[in-house]
Amino acid sequence: MQASDSTSTGRLRINGQRLWQSLMDLARIGATDKGGVRRLALTDLDRQGRDLVVGWLRDAGASLEIDGAGNIFATRPGHSGNPPVVLTGSHVDTQPSGGKFDGNYGVLAGLELLRTLNDAGIATEKPVGVAVWTNEEGTRFIPTMGGSGAFAGVFTLEYLLQQRDVDGISFGEALNSIGYAGSARVGGRAVDAYFEAHIEQGPILEREEKTIGVVTGGLGQRWYDCVWAGQDAHAGPTPMEARHDALRGAAQMIEAMNAIALRHRPDGRATVGFMQVKPNSRNVIPGQVTMSIDIRHPDDAKLATMDRELRDAAAAIARDLRLQCQVRQVVEFPASHFDADCVRSVRTAAETLGYPHREIVSGAAHDAVYLSRVAPTAMIFVPCKDGISHNEIEDARPEHLEAGGNVLLHAVLARAGLSSS
Ligand code: GLV
Ligand code: MN
Ligand code: MN
Repeated sequence: MQASDSTSTGRLRINGQRLWQSLMDLARIGATDKGGVRRLALTDLDRQGRDLVVGWLRDAGASLEIDGAGNIFATRPGHSGNPPVVLTGSHVDTQPSGGKFDGNYGVLAGLELLRTLNDAGIATEKPVGVAVWTNEEGTRFIPTMGGSGAFAGVFTLEYLLQQRDVDGISFGEALNSIGYAGSARVGGRAVDAYFEAHIEQGPILEREEKTIGVVTGGLGQRWYDCVWAGQDAHAGPTPMEARHDALRGAAQMIEAMNAIALRHRPDGRATVGFMQVKPNSRNVIPGQVTMSIDIRHPDDAKLATMDRELRDAAAAIARDLRLQCQVRQVVEFPASHFDADCVRSVRTAAETLGYPHREIVSGAAHDAVYLSRVAPTAMIFVPCKDGISHNEIEDARPEHLEAGGNVLLHAVLARAGLSSS
């Protein structure tokens, strides 16, 4: 049954004002001067954010479980009593200069869904759950989408717990220190379907005046650590032609990456967003530079070509500048294609609710990418202002967030079914 066809639930809507208020309340934890949020994964601010959300989920009557990767699962029982659960969710960790909506919206839209079902006294056949995935952003710890990746078996929990941040603190130590190393097994949970609501983080929906993006999949992606080794030397006496300047290697590589992405336009992407320069002193020629590289493309063959091109470029630059260069791939996943039935549920909900919509491919990575390996999955996008995200000025309109919440509600209801008794 399509829940939205039913007279009892067809008129059901979330409380957009309450959703907005929850977003603003959560955004106070780690709030930045420019109106954004800095709540890095597994920091004390992350703990505070999690505590607030867990309290809200408890108040909504959900039962709570936390697994060994710190993933939080809130479950509202269904009439059938048992799994599989119809799951929604996202993440509450943010970028260093992040916004109020990335990830947080998907979690709080899930909370709002539970509150709406409670208010309307609706019993579903299948359980409905909300997940808060750990370290989606990949900014403090690699890999990105760490919690959902471990859940989906993409890498082991042991691997995840061993990862270290730039200060040498391991994922496992940080997780313990905030009290979120749970006892539930990681993965193996029966998920009937996974729906994730998220801001688009790009300009398409706003430009085309669409309220809902029916997400059909996402770009393939690879991340690398690229280490340039030269020789520390004095900035004054060392002649220009005698230098082994690792930072020059990095600089040329940034330009090479830009050229590679442009060669694969319009869909290719390449970004260098992280760099450590050693010894990082004004009057020392840098002897070592570590830089990140992020490449993305919707076509896996083209992504593989970009990989070859970047390795060739690194080798040529190293030869030219008499440096050593090591390129180590640290994240890799192919383009994802979401489940046709789940995508249809999202489209049907948008249509039935009368929201202008279009199909869209996600340029950003999401927990849904890894969930799609273990459960039928789809996503719901809403526009964000000027397409800007991973920025403190990230913004979204309350009515768009409410619309996405309504689409989520009806897509989940269609899948969870109404209890007949
Ligand atoms: C996550 O935000 C990503 O797309 O890298
Ligand atoms: Mn996100
Ligand atoms: Mn993000």
